[in-house]
Amino acid sequence: MKRLYLAIMVMAIDFAHVTSEPSELERLKKTLDMVDLTLAFDILGLRRDLDTERRLRLELQTTVHQLQEQMFANNHTNSINEIDNLRADFKTQQSIIENVLQEVHVVQNQNHILRNDNTRLQNENNDLRHMFIALNEAFKEEKHLRKQMERRVNGLRLMQENLQFESVQETLQLNGLKLSEFEKHLNLRVSFSAQVSPSINDIDPYETIVFGKVIHNEGNAYNPINGIFVAPVDGTYVFFSNLLTLSKEFEAVLMINETIELLLYTGQPNKFANGSNMIVIHMDKGDRARMIKHNVWGKRPFYIHNYFSTFSGFLLNAG
Ligand SMILES: *[C@@H]1O[C@H](CO)[C@@H](O)[C@H](O)[C@H]1NC(C)=O
Ligand SMILES: *[C@@H]1O[C@H](CO)[C@@H](O)[C@H](O)[C@H]1NC(C)=O
Ligand SMILES: *[C@@H]1O[C@H](CO)[C@@H](O)[C@H](O)[C@H]1NC(C)=O
Repeated sequence: MKRLYLAIMVMAIDFAHVTSEPSELERLKKTLDMVDLTLAFDILGLRRDLDTERRLRLELQTTVHQLQEQMFANNHTNSINEIDNLRADFKTQQSIIENVLQEVHVVQNQNHILRNDNTRLQNENNDLRHMFIALNEAFKEEKHLRKQMERRVNGLRLMQENLQFESVQETLQLNGLKLSEFEKHLNLRVSFSAQVSPSINDIDPYETIVFGKVIHNEGNAYNPINGIFVAPVDGTYVFFSNLLTLSKEFEAVLMINETIELLLYTGQPNKFANGSNMIVIHMDKGDRARMIKHNVWGKRPFYIHNYFSTFSGFLLNAG
């Protein structure tokens, strides 16, 4: 190409002298011929070069093809290796995937369990909510009841206080009664003294000795007609009796109702004799006290002298 360019340049220079000199034309012709020759050579060389290039290209193509085949083969073995690797990887991946699947399964199970738990919890939550509501209701009810209870307790307390007051009042009244009774008892004066009058010439066994002459009879508890003293109140009483008799043996006793409580003995053969005794004893209201000729002992007549033969008694303490 360089050469071609050079030739064209020379041609151009020579062309400028065409008109001026005819010999120049000749020279130019020669030059052109030379150029043609050179060109022919060049074309030949070029052709050769082209052939060579074509051959080389073919060879290259073959080589490339071979190389490609080789590469493909290599690629194939590589691929096999890669496939193996891939297989191994795949297996690994598969096991990983299996593991992951298992985990997914586990997670699913857990999820299931959790869902169940969640349902259960929701149920429990509902239950709890219901319980809470119920509790709230119960609390309100309790509050209400407590108020009622408080009111009732207050009422009861008031009632109790009233009752206590009433009880105190009753106690006071009772105490008042007792006091008035006590006062009555305190003011109660019971005492008597009586003599046999006139003298008793004879008396039957177990007969009540009547002391007919009252010397003193405060409260009128002693009856001089039948000789019996009736206790007007519960209390401690004191009795004394003295008998002057004329008989070998004479025994008299104080009877409280039907019980012998005091023994009195007197008696001398053909002589007057005194016998006396005293007793302090409790009597209930209505109990009766009297002196009787005790038993059948001795020899009749059982004479009891007047004046000296006395029966006396008094209330020591009421209650
Ligand atoms: C291997 O083969 C692949 C696909 O067939 C291709 O893309 C790659 O270029 C080849 N590698 C070689 C080094 O030839
Ligand atoms: C009996 O007692 C009185 C006084 O109590 C006395 O005067 C009298 O002499 C006594 N009689 C006899 C017989 O002891
Ligand atoms: C004693 O007799 C009276 C009258 O009969 C009676 O009211 C009273 O209950 C009797 N007392 C006892 C202790 O039996």
